[in-house]
Amino acid sequence: MAKNPVRVLVTGAAGQIGYALVPMIARGAMLGPDQPVILHMLDIEPAAEALNGVKMELIDAAFPLLKGVVATTDVAEACKDVNIAVMVGGFPRKEGMERKDVMSKNVSIYKAQASALEKHAAPDCKVLVVANPANTNALILKEFAPSIPEKNITCLTRLDHNRALGQISERLDVHVSDVKNVIIWGNHSSTQYPDVNHATVTTSSGEKSVREIVTDDNWLNSEFITTVQQRGAAIIKARKLSSALSAASSACDHIRDWVLGTPKGTWVSMGVYSDGSYGIQEGLIYSFPVTCEKGEWSIVQGLKIDEFSRAKMDATAKELAEEKSLAYSCLN
Ligand code: NAD
Ligand code: LMR
Repeated sequence: MAKNPVRVLVTGAAGQIGYALVPMIARGAMLGPDQPVILHMLDIEPAAEALNGVKMELIDAAFPLLKGVVATTDVAEACKDVNIAVMVGGFPRKEGMERKDVMSKNVSIYKAQASALEKHAAPDCKVLVVANPANTNALILKEFAPSIPEKNITCLTRLDHNRALGQISERLDVHVSDVKNVIIWGNHSSTQYPDVNHATVTTSSGEKSVREIVTDDNWLNSEFITTVQQRGAAIIKARKLSSALSAASSACDHIRDWVLGTPKGTWVSMGVYSDGSYGIQEGLIYSFPVTCEKGEWSIVQGLKIDEFSRAKMDATAKELAEEKSLAYSCLN
């Protein structure tokens, strides 16, 4: 029997991530090849015409899974009964801008959209915040939408996770799907800590730890980390625009694994509400290693943390605590 369509909201849908993301969703990259979808696309009035153009293209592409398109500048209409909300709307960082510069513009949007989601979305709506500062926007959304369960509000660090897999695969000249269990700890910013201490590579002689195969500790402890931390800025420098296709693809990965489950023996990184695991203060949206089953994520417990990692995990938590205070000062 055909499945009922799932309603997926994409905010900022006329922007560059939106333009890459909506066809991926309509092709089944987010929810699977047998899951019909109804796309809800929101943007602001100045982008209304462009948004309508995206709607026209979606119709023209004749996607078999796409059962309807709502394109609107009305936030209440956009949020109505949505099951999944991918929050991309906001202002991106431009060359030379620090992430903090985009803070004041974006957190007030997330405060306002929190109330709309709370009032109009399906009660079990799963929320993924992509727009920067992603962790802090998600936190503001959570705080101003108290009736949405905190486990349903997450932010995107899967792009950083995928970037880390990509760097290891390039270094070892192995296929990226043979690398797994890297971890992104903390903020989607240059303080994030990409951790390879538990990562493995599948080789012809079985699964090996990345640290065993990459013998250059110096590369793993410095260049690898900074490359992943600064990849967003490197893309902005190269394209004069921030990452879009990789962000859209990673957003699909994030929701797909959350809804359909992570493969056995594999974890992924998600920005989620901290419950105090690994000594990270409660009340932050922090990226942890998680496994997902039956639509629920759980933080992977019991990983050994050495002194090097501890310092980096704490530094990114400190930045998030500072961003939280800054966000509140922008809202006041
Ligand atoms: P963009 O400027 O191309 O698109 C953003 C869209 O949001 C625009 O169409 C704009 O009109 C719209 N918008 C602005 N205010 C809005 C509001 N109140 N409601 C609805 N829509 C609104 O930007 P982009 O390149 O698509 O990036 C979007 C966001 O994603 C940025 O904040 C960027 O920094 C962030 N980003 C995050 C990651 C990540 O991994 N977390 C990766 C890349 C980009
Ligand atoms: C990215 O990681 O590509 C984006 O978050 C862009 C940025 O501002 O770093």
